[in-house]
Amino acid sequence: MTFTRKDFPEGFLFGAATSSYQIEGHAFGGAGRTHWDDFAATPGNVVRSENGAVACDHYHRMEEDLDLVAGANFDLYRFSTSWARVLPEGRGAVNDEGLDFYDRLVDGLLARGLKPAATLYHWELPSPLADLGGWRNRDIAGWFADFTEVLMRRIGDRLWSAAPINEPWCVGWLSHFLGQHAPGLRDIRATARAMHHVLLAHGRAIETMRGLGMTNLGAVCNLEYATPAEDTPEARAAAARYDAIYNRWFLSGIFNGQYPAETLEGLEPHLPAGWQDDFTTIGQPLDWLGLNYYTRKLIAPDPGPWPHYREVEGPLPKTQVGWEIYPEGLHEFLIRAHRDHARGLPIHVTENGMANADRLVAGAVEDPQRLSYIEAHLAQVRRAIAEGVPVAGYYIWSLMDNYEWALGYEKRFGLVHVNFESLQRTPKASYHALARALAR
Ligand code: FCB
Repeated sequence: MTFTRKDFPEGFLFGAATSSYQIEGHAFGGAGRTHWDDFAATPGNVVRSENGAVACDHYHRMEEDLDLVAGANFDLYRFSTSWARVLPEGRGAVNDEGLDFYDRLVDGLLARGLKPAATLYHWELPSPLADLGGWRNRDIAGWFADFTEVLMRRIGDRLWSAAPINEPWCVGWLSHFLGQHAPGLRDIRATARAMHHVLLAHGRAIETMRGLGMTNLGAVCNLEYATPAEDTPEARAAAARYDAIYNRWFLSGIFNGQYPAETLEGLEPHLPAGWQDDFTTIGQPLDWLGLNYYTRKLIAPDPGPWPHYREVEGPLPKTQVGWEIYPEGLHEFLIRAHRDHARGLPIHVTENGMANADRLVAGAVEDPQRLSYIEAHLAQVRRAIAEGVPVAGYYIWSLMDNYEWALGYEKRFGLVHVNFESLQRTPKASYHALARALAR
């Protein structure tokens, strides 16, 4: 490792991140059906039609997994809570077993001296709400606020931080325009509505949590750096459009009370009536901003319909999921997010990490690629800090190999290797190196 804690400001937080559907095992503990179960059951959506029914069986191995978080000398654990585990129908009857589970999780973290950082929604929408239109239906903001209230009345008093929704771009664009995530739609009107309602739901959840007296509330957005594929005005405009859809829609909506013009160009005709009046709710004051960062894309102009661009394969080294490794993009985004949006609020890198074709050989996993990836991105974090950006934490995706959505169980993002047959956990070399670097 090329760093230790001493290379970061006093109090800088190192963490590991996971999400509920990707690790818990949704078949256990009375959780209701989700739109990911439906999406995965439809051939062609997910590699080998795999789903999160068992995943890492974290539901039954939670104590062992929290020991792993503590054993790597992390300060914080970012987890998410499943709406359908708490409210199997999405509304109404509460599954006490689900609330008990998250209660034990929070206490288990505190008992180990770890800070619990919760995300309320990381993509597993209860199927009965999907039946009602899911993110296309404006009522989802109220349903989500009600879920927030039920859950946070139980665990909100002991959380270190909370954020409503993981990566609104994935909820909106990836799932309703590109169709690559549940519910797998490819529909511009559905997209516009989901992109707006996801922010409205975010705002309503923040209001609800403030009402309960909770503090340290934030938002978690994923950003992807857009590089023009060629040096032409058309390619630059295409990259700017990509940037507006992916990166600026959500940050501008939350922090600047408006949507970028390049995005409205395509989506405005499809937005729900009165959308302009929702920015007071969407822009509820926050205490921190979380950025998830993995890669960049090369963007070329395309003569087809709006948004008139296409992705082009880039020349940089790639991870197991084919994402180019481009640490400089993280630096650029930290500077931009601080300057244009968060303006002085602490920024946390709430996800960063890489998939690698890791193999367990004689009881060990050598993953030097992951260590270099982490070191290179942390170097960019330090650069941004040196330039005055108040970066307050860095969380690795992910604690352990897990269900990587449409890519199933094949792509390994973990610091800990998981054998998906025996469910045995084996810390990889990167885990041990981090534990040494983060030792107090
Ligand atoms: C992020 C997601 C997370 C995981 C990583 C690789 O977009 O938040 O669940 O899939 O990518």
